[in-house]
Amino acid sequence: MENVQRIVAANGLQNVKSYVLDWSSPPEVAQKFDTIIASDCVYFERYHCIIDCMEKLIVEGGTVYLAAPKRKGSLELFLSKVNRDKWNVLLVENPMWNAALQKSRSAAAEKGAPQEFDEDLHFPRLVILNRIIWQ
Ligand SMILES: C[S@@+](CC[C@H](N)C(=O)[O-])C[C@H]1O[C@@H](n2cnc3c(N)ncnc32)[C@H](O)[C@@H]1O
Repeated sequence: MENVQRIVAANGLQNVKSYVLDWSSPPEVAQKFDTIIASDCVYFERYHCIIDCMEKLIVEGGTVYLAAPKRKGSLELFLSKVNRDKWNVLLVENPMWNAALQKSRSAAAEKGAPQEFDEDLHFPRLVILNRIIWQ
């Protein structure tokens, strides 16, 4: 929570509130969200309840942006559980942050920082989940 508040402050974001959310018991909300962003949250099977949480909190037609490494098949397993009747799913293998990530890795290497980069564990793919609008 402190990290989130630091990030909000560092980016000068106005009108942003932060709350703790337990994915396994999402609250009833008066107004659902157009967009949900999550990072590195599906590598354990016990975390996969996050999809039900997203379903409860997103508006129909809303979009979830999820960043996650493949991490020993965990991303694939998570995606196999996503109900395609409710979600359109797009896996972006080479997301826009790849170039920035490579640049910062090169800069770190030039400074002699240890390189412990394992693409399977550390390179986040982008998953775009679009909540289908019911007719
Ligand atoms: C690897 S961390 C990712 C943190 C952050 N999103 C990032 O990218 O730096 C995964 C996070 O999921 C949280 N988590 C696991 N189960 C959860 C649940 N049921 N509800 C809320 N958060 C949960 C863990 O506490 C942990 O902070």
